[in-house]
Amino acid sequence: MSSLWHWFVIFGTLASLAIFLVLLFNNRKTSGEATTGHEWDGIQEYDNPLPMWWVWMFVISIVFALGYLAWYPGLGNFGGISDWSSAGEVRRAQEAHEARFAPLYEELASLDEAALHDSRQAMQVGRRLFINNCSTCHGVNGRGAFGFPNLTDSEWIWGAGFGNVKTALTNGRQAAMPSWQAALGDQGVLDVTQFVLSLSGSEHDAAAAARGQSQYQTFCVACHGAEGKGNPALGSPDLTNDIWLYGGTAERIAYTLRNGRNGNMPAFSDVLSADQIHVLAGYVTSLSKEEAQ
Ligand code: HEC
Ligand code: HEC
Repeated sequence: MSSLWHWFVIFGTLASLAIFLVLLFNNRKTSGEATTGHEWDGIQEYDNPLPMWWVWMFVISIVFALGYLAWYPGLGNFGGISDWSSAGEVRRAQEAHEARFAPLYEELASLDEAALHDSRQAMQVGRRLFINNCSTCHGVNGRGAFGFPNLTDSEWIWGAGFGNVKTALTNGRQAAMPSWQAALGDQGVLDVTQFVLSLSGSEHDAAAAARGQSQYQTFCVACHGAEGKGNPALGSPDLTNDIWLYGGTAERIAYTLRNGRNGNMPAFSDVLSADQIHVLAGYVTSLSKEEAQ
């Protein structure tokens, strides 16, 4: 609030309280006559003083208002003696919540992966965390969507296992697949697309794929490998398993080659505690375990 508004609010608030007091004071006395002189249809208005209980109630409410304005924020930028704020209230509630659940997380965090999978409570807590934090992107059941990997299968772009999942949660994952339009040209994009299709044994044009192969060797092996198996350290996906983050049709693949892709898994180290991440990672690896059975 600018200082003009700050003073405007203070003035407006205190002046109206003062005006109430003045009105009250002025109406305290009566004219001394029995009636006010108002009469309508034979009914006369008495000129009695205000009842004392009423006056006192008014005075008390004004005193209360002054006390309230001193204690809580209300007068412009003045924060009040108590320093109360709604944000502070939320923070305290969150701290109380964390303090309440910290022992539970601490206990669950002492379990290793296998023990987490066996603990009903850990799986329940993990599922809750997953739904609250992950389902918007990976789906309620972790099956993923276009651009968001399926976490319930046995294929892992960034490497399988509890440790890799924990790292993904803690630090996030930033994938960088550059655009190849300039390097490959229009024909090159179409040829390499056919070669990519051939890697997973999908239907493809053999002649175009043969032309695309040499360009693949030049531009793509560094990240996707000579056999197209990908590289978990870079998050470059396996192109041979017919599992596609961005779709496996010729159009989709060509689009990926022309424009590049930059999948971004956010880091959760600021949102979740290390103990929460541990429990959640256990829940995530349990999803693909169920699938395998
Ligand atoms: C610098 C490393 C790098 C190079 C070089 C590279 N890629 Fe990629 N590629 C990636 C990464 C990382 C991803 C994952 C992008 C994401 O997750 O957003 C990816 C994704 C893809 C995908 C999408 C896979 C899917 O599941 O939808 C295709 C197809 C692909 N690359 C083909 C190629 C081809 C063909 C070339 C050579 C012209 C190439 N890439 C060169 C790193 C690379
Ligand atoms: C804003 C969307 C978003 C949210 C929220 C999100 N993720 Fe992700 N996550 C992604 C994307 C996108 C990728 C793939 C990055 C890439 O292109 O390689 C990913 C990748 C992953 C991977 C690596 C998968 C693999 O195949 O290696 C794991 C594990 C994962 N997420 C788990 C989680 C969990 C658990 C949560 C909840 C705490 C979560 N994610 C929340 C978008 C999200």
